[in-house]
Amino acid sequence: MQSVLFVCLGNICRSPLGEGILRHLAEERGVAEQLRVDSAGTSAHHVGEPPDRRSVAVAARHGIDLSRQRSRKVVRQDLHDFTLVLAMDRSNFADLARLEADPEAQVSLMMSFAGESYARDVPDPYYGSGDGFQVVYEMLVEACNGVLDSLFPQG
Ligand code: 4NP
Repeated sequence: MQSVLFVCLGNICRSPLGEGILRHLAEERGVAEQLRVDSAGTSAHHVGEPPDRRSVAVAARHGIDLSRQRSRKVVRQDLHDFTLVLAMDRSNFADLARLEADPEAQVSLMMSFAGESYARDVPDPYYGSGDGFQVVYEMLVEACNGVLDSLFPQG
């Protein structure tokens, strides 16, 4: 069983969207039964809350349901429990580094799984306009396909 944990700051915008997209693409490729997907935030600010309605909306436009997900805070054990822990930006990566002495061994930047023409960080869309969520969606689809290519080379 492969497993992927997405990590952002609040676990209400980017990482729940990544979780929903990866699960959806894994279903399309027929590998969903071999993959556990979860998401968490480095901050406890939104613990227990559902994803931001703008993430829910952009996901719903693409046939993806985020309504059952709830925010939780990442814990040190997560770094050992998942095959891949994917930080949405370098700030999230640095926060994860505080949990673990050797983060490079456990944590990757999400966009390292996308083509080189993409930015390294998935931008935080929380304070911007709704367009930011569409941009984030498109970046996450690209990187999620790269994640699946990496985990399931025959998929
Ligand atoms: P996320 O976005 O890290 O993608 O979930 C944010 C959500 C909430 C806040 C910042 C970013 N906030 O400051 O409350």
